[in-house]
Amino acid sequence: MNPVSINVTLVSDDRHLEELLRSSGMQVTSGPTATLEDLSEVSAQQPDVVVIDVRSQTQLPSTLPLLTQRHPSTGVLLVASQLDPALMLKAMRARVRECIAEPVDPAALTAAINRLVVERSPSAPGQVLAFVGAKGGVGTTTTAVNVATAISQLASAPTLLIDLHLGGGDAALYLGAAPRHSVVDALENIHKLDEMFLRSLIVRTNSKLDLLAAPTRIISGAIDTDRIQALVESAARQYQYVVLDLPGSDAAMLDAVAPTSTIAIVVNQELAAVRNAGRVASALLRRHGKDRVTVVLNRYDPHAAIGQDDVERVTNIPVRWSLPSNYPVALEAANKGRPLALDNHNKLAAAFVAVARELTGVPATGRSGGLFQRLTKRRAH
Ligand SMILES: Nc1ncnc2c1ncn2[C@@H]1O[C@H](COP(=O)(O)OP(=O)(O)OP(=O)(O)O)[C@@H](O)[C@H]1O
Ligand SMILES: [Mg+2]
Repeated sequence: MNPVSINVTLVSDDRHLEELLRSSGMQVTSGPTATLEDLSEVSAQQPDVVVIDVRSQTQLPSTLPLLTQRHPSTGVLLVASQLDPALMLKAMRARVRECIAEPVDPAALTAAINRLVVERSPSAPGQVLAFVGAKGGVGTTTTAVNVATAISQLASAPTLLIDLHLGGGDAALYLGAAPRHSVVDALENIHKLDEMFLRSLIVRTNSKLDLLAAPTRIISGAIDTDRIQALVESAARQYQYVVLDLPGSDAAMLDAVAPTSTIAIVVNQELAAVRNAGRVASALLRRHGKDRVTVVLNRYDPHAAIGQDDVERVTNIPVRWSLPSNYPVALEAANKGRPLALDNHNKLAAAFVAVARELTGVPATGRSGGLFQRLTKRRAH
């Protein structure tokens, strides 16, 4: 990238910092903290990057969250006296994506600004699909793992599965993966979660799918909604498809998936599961609206006492996908660590592939990865 083209607004009275930016070939406009108020106006023209010097401050500027909310593509870099964890957390909540500390290294400063400019390039964020179980054991992980695998095969596009079961999840086992890191490493280091760092935490599975696994040790304590949201947003900037395996029992987790395009409640025809699906559905509908919430009826049996219409009545959402039951195949796949969607020899595998086709828009007869897809494809990992 040619640094001459980068426009920087510098909020600082440090002339040395201004000189440093100029000598790297950037076009710099500097001003006091009040400059951020002007930039936060809805119609304000935005620079490529805003550099905010907080070395002499104890707080972040109060208008910063408004700026990043109204202008999410404006990159913000903080220059702090030190990388204090409390400040980092506040910065992350204010959607600051880069932070450097004293002594200011010119190369690190330029590299951080270049990263922000690259991120600003207008590639749309990836599609995020969350599967949330109405109850334990209904087949949420089986569905998430197989749909994600089918998407990665069909779309030939970077696809990531995130197992958000902080109390321990099964996706790694179902995918035959042996991850060394987990979603907890990402959440604990959320302020430095750039492309390189995320890549160091994921494990490539036997198919083309990448996995950010659940922790193997049990994590206690409250879920930090902001961190999970930041993780999902960051993943969606780097992957064309992000699939989430979500625990449905945690209301905070349901809040955390705000960047999700489709949230599918997985349910079967057991009374307790259907009743819980009603609760999860009303919580999700309240938070995310009717267009984004959908229902998957797993292990569907047309002769069961509880029918599809009952599920729809309780959840108030039409069932979008019914998946047939095939316990021997599902069990063997889980035990072998090889998603059954990879071997399209039965109705259940075909059903997962059909869900993936619908979500990605790859037609049944068409070759995967058409011209448009190849043009819009993100960088492969
Ligand atoms: N469509 C299906 N047909 C038959 N068996 C299935 C089907 N889907 C899942 N199963 C089986 O049901 C069991 C539970 O599946 P899975 O682990 O995916 O559920 P879960 O909802 O993720 O459970 P947990 O609450 O423990 O996370 C597994 O033995 C799996 O093989
Ligand atoms: Mg599970």
